Amino acid sequence: MILLFSFRCKRCVLALMMTICGLCVFSLYGMAVTWSAVVPLGGQQTGYDVRQKELFDNVVVAGDRVRGTVAADPGESVVQRHNRVLQNSNRDFYVKTDPSSKEERGENSLRTFENYQEATEDLKQKLRGDNSIFVDDEDQRNINGRDNFEARTKPYYGTASKLSQEYHNATKKLPEAIIIGVKKAGTRALLEFLRIHPDVRAPGPEPHFFDRNYDKGLEWYRSQMPETIPGQLTIEKTPSYFVTREVPKRVYDMSKNVKLIVVVRDPVTRAISDYTQALSKRPDIKPFEQWALLDNRTRLVNSSWGAIRIGVYPKHLEHWLKFFPLEQIHFVNGERLIGDPASEIGRVQSFLGLRQYISEKHFYLKEPRGFPCIIRNERTGRHHCLGKTKGRPHPKVNEDVIARLRDFYRPFNLKFYHMVKRKFDWR
Ligand code: A3P
Repeated sequence: MILLFSFRCKRCVLALMMTICGLCVFSLYGMAVTWSAVVPLGGQQTGYDVRQKELFDNVVVAGDRVRGTVAADPGESVVQRHNRVLQNSNRDFYVKTDPSSKEERGENSLRTFENYQEATEDLKQKLRGDNSIFVDDEDQRNINGRDNFEARTKPYYGTASKLSQEYHNATKKLPEAIIIGVKKAGTRALLEFLRIHPDVRAPGPEPHFFDRNYDKGLEWYRSQMPETIPGQLTIEKTPSYFVTREVPKRVYDMSKNVKLIVVVRDPVTRAISDYTQALSKRPDIKPFEQWALLDNRTRLVNSSWGAIRIGVYPKHLEHWLKFFPLEQIHFVNGERLIGDPASEIGRVQSFLGLRQYISEKHFYLKEPRGFPCIIRNERTGRHHCLGKTKGRPHPKVNEDVIARLRDFYRPFNLKFYHMVKRKFDWR
């Protein structure tokens, strides 16, 4: 055929030869790309064939490959994978599986995305913390316990390779803001609400750096933080900081400019909430009333009991104000965080210097519990409510004891309002 052409036109032969060469180069390139897509990273079994457009569970493999322990062998069962994943502690993002998903029911599943674009967006959302899990201190203990099937199957840990150049440049920073307390006042809700914001990144578990892990050093602390891209703010929450004497100075030594957030709630309800949490772990503990009062005759309040002591807010705040000016501490009204989350979050966004992104459209009220849940993705309607350890029903407490506690807290509350130059509606 070439000979036939050569008779008629030499230019045609040249063009034909060039086309054939082009085709050869193109197919060599195609082979190289396919090879790179299936070759494992760093010797781990991490490769997935992009052409399948199949993404393993919630760990996205879209063109890029998942790095490290989370990359699953497709033959491995979900439970095996969860176990393996949980044995590793260095992850930089967490993905909560959808409670109604097959993973939570213990079934194996492959999540398929229609196209590369959709998968890319999904991973980006995750890397922004948009789909992060909600591991609380107590959940964390469950996870470490590893025997609890529910805990094992609940959170999904993963470290993913980044999709775009900007994520390749991501770095871990020390937090610029810390939610320092108060335990059982709504700290988890606040953090999860803030994580809706694309410019906010936070670790799921509580790092407890300044109280329990201080000797591990600042680099350890930094390593606990998620990666951020320029313009993103790193925040963590560890509610025990507020009541730990050594912490204010340690935080100051890290950064005198760090922004501090304290969620406060009526100290009586807070104490009952604290007790309810303890009761859920040890159902045989004595009733609240017996803990709260030293003895029935004198009706002296047991102020050394942690559940009571934590609610004496001015005592704890005093230590913080030795190191930080009041303007650097923002107080979130825990009651309003439930009743009107958007406006409370609006104030937090201002305090943190964030653009007003989170608004009413991100919340809806979930009955019968009556707590706000988050609408993560307006388009898909993806939503999330806090787990069952948040918003537990409280046991009935004797009215006299409640009245006694109200009397006990009243002067402290007044002092607190004075200190923060703001009033709260605690009776
Ligand atoms: P209860 O479980 O006693 O109701 P923390 O996260 O600091 O441990 O606080 C837990 C408290 O957060 C819960 O206490 C609950 O009242 C409150 N909370 C605030 N917003 C919530 C929400 N959207 N969902 C569930 N609990 C919420």
